[in-house]
Amino acid sequence: MTMGAAITNPFYLTCLIILSLMQVTTIAGEKHSYVVYLGSHSHGPEISSTDLDRVTESHYEFLGTFLGSNKAKDAIFYSYTRHINGFAAILEEEEAAQIANHPDVVSVFLNKARKLHTTRSWEFLGLENNGVIHPSSIWKKARFGEDVIIGNLDTGVWPESKSFSDEGFGPIPSKWNGICVNGLDKSFRCNRKLIGARYFNRGFASVYGPLNSTYESPRDDDGHGSHTLSTAAGNFVPGANVLGYANGTAKGGSPKARVVAYKVCWLYKGEGSCFDADVLAAVDAAIFDGVDVLSTSLGGSPGTPFFEDGIAIASFHAAKHGISVVCSAGNSGPLAGTVANVAPWQFTIGASTMDREFPAYVVLGNKMQFKGQSLSKALPNKLFYPLISSKGAKAVHATIEDAERCKPNSLDPRKVKGKIILCLRGDNGRVDKGNQALIAGAVAMILANDKESANEIIADPHVLPASHITYSEGLAVARYIRTAKSPVAYITPPTTQLGVKPAPFMAAFSSQGPSSVAPEILKPDITAPGVSILAAYSLEASPTNENEDKRRFPYNILSGTSMSCPHVAGIVGLLKSIYPNWSPAAIRSAIMTTARMRDNRRHPVTDASGLKATPFSYGSGHVRPNRAADPGLVYDLTVKDYLNFLCGLGYNSSQIKSFTKEPYTCPKHTALANLNYPSFSVPNLNSTITVTRTVKNVGSPGSYRARVVSPLGTSVIVEPKYLKFDKVGEEKSFNLTVKLRQKDAARDYVFGHLTWTDGKHHVKSPIAVKAGSTQVIAS
Ligand SMILES: *[C@@H]1O[C@H](CO)[C@@H](O)[C@H](O)[C@H]1NC(C)=O
Ligand SMILES: *[C@@H]1O[C@H](CO)[C@@H](O)[C@H](O)[C@H]1NC(C)=O
Ligand SMILES: *[C@@H]1O[C@H](CO)[C@@H](O)[C@H](O)[C@H]1NC(C)=O
Ligand SMILES: *[C@@H]1O[C@H](CO)[C@@H](O)[C@H](O)[C@H]1NC(C)=O
Ligand SMILES: *[C@@H]1O[C@H](CO)[C@@H](O)[C@H](O)[C@H]1NC(C)=O
Repeated sequence: MTMGAAITNPFYLTCLIILSLMQVTTIAGEKHSYVVYLGSHSHGPEISSTDLDRVTESHYEFLGTFLGSNKAKDAIFYSYTRHINGFAAILEEEEAAQIANHPDVVSVFLNKARKLHTTRSWEFLGLENNGVIHPSSIWKKARFGEDVIIGNLDTGVWPESKSFSDEGFGPIPSKWNGICVNGLDKSFRCNRKLIGARYFNRGFASVYGPLNSTYESPRDDDGHGSHTLSTAAGNFVPGANVLGYANGTAKGGSPKARVVAYKVCWLYKGEGSCFDADVLAAVDAAIFDGVDVLSTSLGGSPGTPFFEDGIAIASFHAAKHGISVVCSAGNSGPLAGTVANVAPWQFTIGASTMDREFPAYVVLGNKMQFKGQSLSKALPNKLFYPLISSKGAKAVHATIEDAERCKPNSLDPRKVKGKIILCLRGDNGRVDKGNQALIAGAVAMILANDKESANEIIADPHVLPASHITYSEGLAVARYIRTAKSPVAYITPPTTQLGVKPAPFMAAFSSQGPSSVAPEILKPDITAPGVSILAAYSLEASPTNENEDKRRFPYNILSGTSMSCPHVAGIVGLLKSIYPNWSPAAIRSAIMTTARMRDNRRHPVTDASGLKATPFSYGSGHVRPNRAADPGLVYDLTVKDYLNFLCGLGYNSSQIKSFTKEPYTCPKHTALANLNYPSFSVPNLNSTITVTRTVKNVGSPGSYRARVVSPLGTSVIVEPKYLKFDKVGEEKSFNLTVKLRQKDAARDYVFGHLTWTDGKHHVKSPIAVKAGSTQVIAS
């Protein structure tokens, strides 16, 4: 497993389960859970319940032509009737293959599980300063996201959390069409803040079922869903902290928005997953309910084609109805090509640090000291304790590799008892290592990075006193243990420190581009805070998600792209408040083109090892909400543009017609590169390419000038170089031509950027270029 496995909670283990499930499917005659996707419905939104029943009946009939009508009724466990057309059913592989050949079918795919991929951050993003909200803050302009409705696809919600109290909230907006489904959990109540909740478990049950009564509720039993939802739109809650750390006022990006929980992720035997069939059902409901924004901190394996990816399909239908879908990029970094949720209608968010740390110094007997981080409690006494390496504490039957990483049953309690143990990061969770150390009798843990995670240190609420240090520091501690006669160490109690530099830098776990589905779209789109984020939690879960950990906190600190995604969902909510008529693409463009590629030292944003990061980790840069409220120009997109893009990917008119149920013919020629996206990616440049973009003036009349920084070994020319706008809403097109300038240029991706500026606005887009196999140098 990659480092992503170590982030926040057990959902990461599901990828392994899924792989083994997929192998099983090759056995003929065995039944599996599938989604049969039929595209859109031809009926409009004003459909009666009788007609909805008729749609379900048509699904039974359709499947009946393959299985016979009785078997068809038993097989179908979801019929998607409102916006998304299709059903989920238990089928044999051969039946699934037959159905896939039917002309009305867009795709048939296994109901796969997706994995789930928080107070300082808003100040770091410039929305407030020491609790004071300046008039220029987007919060004021957007009235804190008032009456925007933000939905969350996740593990549900803890409805009693103060972050979702409705104190001070007026009546529920009249556009709200949804309900509060509490199933068998009568204590679960919605209110004027948490205006709706639903849960979807049939896709999960079709693989792991049957389910008992605890699965009949939208209540969050994991903490992840409450955390993400409150980051997007939780109330102002003073005095939120974890064991006293990060104390302050918790709040979401759109603190006055209304929130809705769609529970699609379920824990089973300590592990959890979010199935395609449930995601599709949830989004079909969310469109009907009237949400404005969907925050989606979950994702599948990179490389899944769009029509076999439940989240991509669901997001398309949402986008078609004007809903912004904000998704996490995934926690499989820092390897290239790991980014998930790469459809051009999704808003894909990477994760980076902010300027807050929780330093806990590791002090060695030789007086060396290292600034680590932790959210753990202090050591009982201010004394030096004996220090042992995990390798040296190996249990007889364990492997060296397991012991080194402090995996379960790998440590010998006789060697560990009463000592501070040095554990290596990787494989099992960071907090699990602490748990194993505690079980073996350690008084404290020093958690050292492996080579891959380098300088990225994360403050976790470890179950014992602990400090997390970098790779090179870990090597120094190991050297001291090897050479000292009786090694000893001490860990100072953690404190909360602000103003840390450099910040942001990219989290090593944040998944990276290029997109493995369509590298012509630069993904991820943007980065936002996703390391050590304080937000609401569930009182049914322990802060480490370890069963042995009996602590319960109303707020907790988590890290992951799961945490950066709802930051942007909250900001999208603010823009929706200010510009209710903007398309999801225009809102995304505003956020992307105003992002920043520099850190708080004014240096280019770096990665976890201190090297310059690239747009494949931060996209257009680090989000700047106040600037996003006034972008000057936007690169807009319509649903038709997305359909043309699908043509460019090789889907034909008849496939796309069933996808949308509207008359549609593929244009004669579509270049993927011409999708009007606010960034540029050219994956196979042989000599020269010209791409066209159109920008819309949303600021004031004025003249914009193009400024280009060409990627190394290429030349980029923009034509025309000046764009003059006489009025608001006016659109102007330009061509951007990229040429290879020298032999062997751009063998690997090289990066530059284009900025349109009128002196006040800086509309910036990254450019990524890689040469193809048949380079021809333009003269
Ligand atoms: C329901 O199932 C879960 C998971 O198997 C189990 O932990 C729980 O105790 C069960 N609850 C009830 C009420 O049976
Ligand atoms: C958190 O801050 C509030 C307000 O400054 C203060 O009243 C409270 O005691 C603090 N709590 C902790 C645990 O430090
Ligand atoms: C469109 O593609 C599908 C699937 O590849 C194929 O069966 C169909 O014949 C194609 N239709 C046309 C009009 O080319
Ligand atoms: C470059 O050439 C390769 C091989 O002939 C081709 O597959 C690719 O599409 C070309 N790239 C562009 C951008 O035209
Ligand atoms: C862009 O280039 C195409 C030809 O490659 C040309 O037809 C078009 O007029 C150009 N557009 C602009 C805005 O210069």
